[in-house]
Amino acid sequence: MRVLGIETSCDETAAAVVEDGRRVLSDVVSTQIEIHRRWGGVVPELASRNHVVQVMPVVDEALRVAGVAGPDLDGIAVTSGPGLVGALLVGVQVAKALSLAWGVPLARVNHLEGHLLATFLSEEAPAFPYLGLVVSGGHTSLYVAEDFGRYRLLGQTRDDAAGEAFDKGAKLLGLPYPGGVAIDRLARGGNSQAVKFPRAVVKGGPLAFSFSGLKTALLHRVRSHGVPVGQELADLCASYQEAIVGALSAKLFRAARELQLDRVVLSGGVAANGRLREVVTGRAAEYEGMRVFLPPPRHCTDNAAMIAVAGTRALQRGERAGPALEADPAWRLGSVGC
Ligand code: KG4
Ligand code: ZN
Repeated sequence: MRVLGIETSCDETAAAVVEDGRRVLSDVVSTQIEIHRRWGGVVPELASRNHVVQVMPVVDEALRVAGVAGPDLDGIAVTSGPGLVGALLVGVQVAKALSLAWGVPLARVNHLEGHLLATFLSEEAPAFPYLGLVVSGGHTSLYVAEDFGRYRLLGQTRDDAAGEAFDKGAKLLGLPYPGGVAIDRLARGGNSQAVKFPRAVVKGGPLAFSFSGLKTALLHRVRSHGVPVGQELADLCASYQEAIVGALSAKLFRAARELQLDRVVLSGGVAANGRLREVVTGRAAEYEGMRVFLPPPRHCTDNAAMIAVAGTRALQRGERAGPALEADPAWRLGSVGC
């Protein structure tokens, strides 16, 4: 079963063909990072306009590399939410048009489900149920994936997403967008114990996250000490990163203990972070039988292959979307609660 995935929820225009929800035949991502960099973050209007320009060339390239003609596909899967409404609309309209023109069934996919299932693109995939931590520019959400199409939200951020904490922190330090990548790189040569940052106590749930206090602490420090250079900048980046990574891994392993789950999956752009990968792998080694599944960085950041994986399963369950499909910018995934 060969499914074309289309993803335009934020600042990546992506298309991919995946076979049987596992094998990547093509995986094309056109990023707008350079376009948004000069504004220090994603500008929604610019994102939509560039999706319009990029989407058909990206789809054509995905089909060409996969060696599949549109009408020979077994399905099309498109991200219809959550995300930027104007950006989502581009993918949704194109997917509906192609589905009609080629006579190929269409499935809508929740972007977060795509992230949670990106691990199935790797050779070894986890058995259900597993814990999935989605950490990106827009989300910090901890889920139990019970089966394909069945997810339970354990906790999410009360304010900034983890990627936002990286991006806003980097902006305060005069580092380029996307900030997570810049901080990750600089932190490698820094001392993570050099600066003490507050650990948030989050009201409203033991598995909820909060990063706005951390960002404010960095702002106060920059106001009083200025932006450091050289080794001191590396130390500050390493300490700030350590605070984010520490909060993420603490909640992740707390959930693993409480729910007695021994399979953990990371996903989303922040899951590409070197220190997060190291800390989670290290802590998992302390628990007998605990397994960590880390998709390669290109499947952690936004891509359409993960959307095709989720769409394949939706189509197999008989789910179909039609011409009435709309973008759903605030689409919540799954049920809520422990
Ligand atoms: O999943 P993604 O590509 O797009 C969203 O759905 O948001 O995630 C982008 C986010 C950005 O905030 C970026 O700073 C962060 O992921 N990111 C990283 C790293 N690479 C990307 N954060 C920390 N370390 C990285 N290496
Ligand atoms: Zn994402």
